Amino acid sequence: MTIAVKSLFENIWNNYVEVTPSAQKIHQLLGSGDDIINDHVAYRTFNIEKINLDKLAAQLIKLGYQECNQYQFEAKKLDAKHFEHPDSTLPKVFISQLQVEKFSSAAQRIIHQLVDSLPDDISERDDFLYSGATWQISHSDYLTLLEESEYAAWLAAWGYRANHFTVSINALKNYTSIEDVNQTVKTGGFKLNSTGGEIKGDKIVKLEQSSTMADKAVVNFTDNNVEIPSCFYEFAQRYPLANGELYSGFVAASADKIFESTNAA
Ligand code: NI
Repeated sequence: MTIAVKSLFENIWNNYVEVTPSAQKIHQLLGSGDDIINDHVAYRTFNIEKINLDKLAAQLIKLGYQECNQYQFEAKKLDAKHFEHPDSTLPKVFISQLQVEKFSSAAQRIIHQLVDSLPDDISERDDFLYSGATWQISHSDYLTLLEESEYAAWLAAWGYRANHFTVSINALKNYTSIEDVNQTVKTGGFKLNSTGGEIKGDKIVKLEQSSTMADKAVVNFTDNNVEIPSCFYEFAQRYPLANGELYSGFVAASADKIFESTNAA
């Protein structure tokens, strides 16, 4: 089973670096060529039944993942869950979904058209989590969504691919602090998300996170080819609980700011 999970994440990584070449470069910088343990991989979706959070999760649950915790993001109109595998070297997976019914009728119409165009069994396909956007979207519809929700617009443009991978700083050989990782990333010429400070969270909440600002890549919209923010790379350092085990959850206040890594800089 572990082999199947590893090959799934290899496919997800290859699909992700196609539009996020800086992640490949930073991976090389931090790991000096060694493998890197991923703390987590994150997905975005709409809360429409055909492709909702539970449908994405089903792909992971059949590979041994278990549901761990739930999160709410009121202002961004999102809810989320995270999943863990008993093999702790496999990444946690953080899946959020947009509460579509809370948006304007214009936005809802665009989103439902996208989802309606997908085959009913799309979420059961082996390549679903690295299939990208298999619907057709115009740049003008993208801009309509962007006015209401950066998240909705990103998802409409990029579809089902990792929104970000996250380096586990705890597992890096040559680094012991997020400050040092951030410095290496910046010295390498990459821009960090500074919303709410470069480091989100602290030792008190047992999780410190930082992330790059998303790369940019061209999307072939139906009416135009346009370069827009694609995916980003995140860095996470976890601290032990009283029982000595590393905290494995997420901190909603930090995740809220990490979402903004795909804003146009
Ligand atoms: Ni993350």
